[in-house]
Amino acid sequence: MSENTPLGKRLWITGTDTDVGKTVVTALVAAAFQGIGLKTQVAKPLQSGAVLLPGQSPTVASPDLQSVRAWLKTAVPTWCGVCLEAPATPWIADETQHGHPSIDLERITAQLIDFGAQGDVTVVEAAGGVYVPLTPTQTVLGWLTTIADPVIVVARPNLGTINHTLLTVNALLERNIPVLGVVVSGWDSDSTDIAQQTLPQVFERFLPVPVLAWVPRVALNPQCIRPDHGAVEALFPALASWVKGA
Ligand SMILES: Nc1ncnc2c1ncn2[C@@H]1O[C@H](COP(=O)(O)OP(=O)(O)OP(=O)(O)O)[C@@H](O)[C@H]1O
Ligand SMILES: [Mg+2]
Repeated sequence: MSENTPLGKRLWITGTDTDVGKTVVTALVAAAFQGIGLKTQVAKPLQSGAVLLPGQSPTVASPDLQSVRAWLKTAVPTWCGVCLEAPATPWIADETQHGHPSIDLERITAQLIDFGAQGDVTVVEAAGGVYVPLTPTQTVLGWLTTIADPVIVVARPNLGTINHTLLTVNALLERNIPVLGVVVSGWDSDSTDIAQQTLPQVFERFLPVPVLAWVPRVALNPQCIRPDHGAVEALFPALASWVKGA
């Protein structure tokens, strides 16, 4: 193997729900990999709620990838497989738009593998939460089971997150999907809310995987996420040891 052959690793970012901070954490994780000198890429295989302008590629049109490209200080190659207009689960968005289910997960997987092979590490943002249907017969969880890549679970910090996080992590582990850990996004260390104050204690006792980072609300301005961003630095140890060990 030549010294310049990319490592071709993939790490998925899933979450306990839609709108929990997967895209924010995807950008932070990508910056962390950039910070340890890896050729880093970002993928969003399936994107709902995105209108493709005539002639536009899904990669250009994906709002999540647009955000990642805007926030990262260091440029990052990106790829999106399919953009769907309706802000709904991919299966329903696809059927509504095309009149029949047209998502071909085998083709998208092959494209993702090809894209991933071009970088040392590709951070892949999954759609919604793990039980979101992608086709009439397959969920995110089922698809991840066929791919067997490692994942990070993004969770909210507020009341209700214990149940959602434990269900999500345990569903992944039951299918032998390696879970590197949980990233809590939007954490307020000064919160006076008892649910937030005690979350570290509850996760410490009941969560079967580590919390990799407690990410505060970060300012999301153009080029604001760099490898020396505090929220990024918190991710270095776990990600560096994954790259070395996996
Ligand atoms: N740590 C954070 N700092 C600042 N804003 C955050 C943070 N985490 C989440 N948000 C905000 O919460 C909202 C949802 O975040 P994000 O788009 O990353 O969620 P998502 O899980 O990727 O959603 P989707 O399922 O639509 O892809 C955004 O407005 C984002 O700016
Ligand atoms: Mg997102």
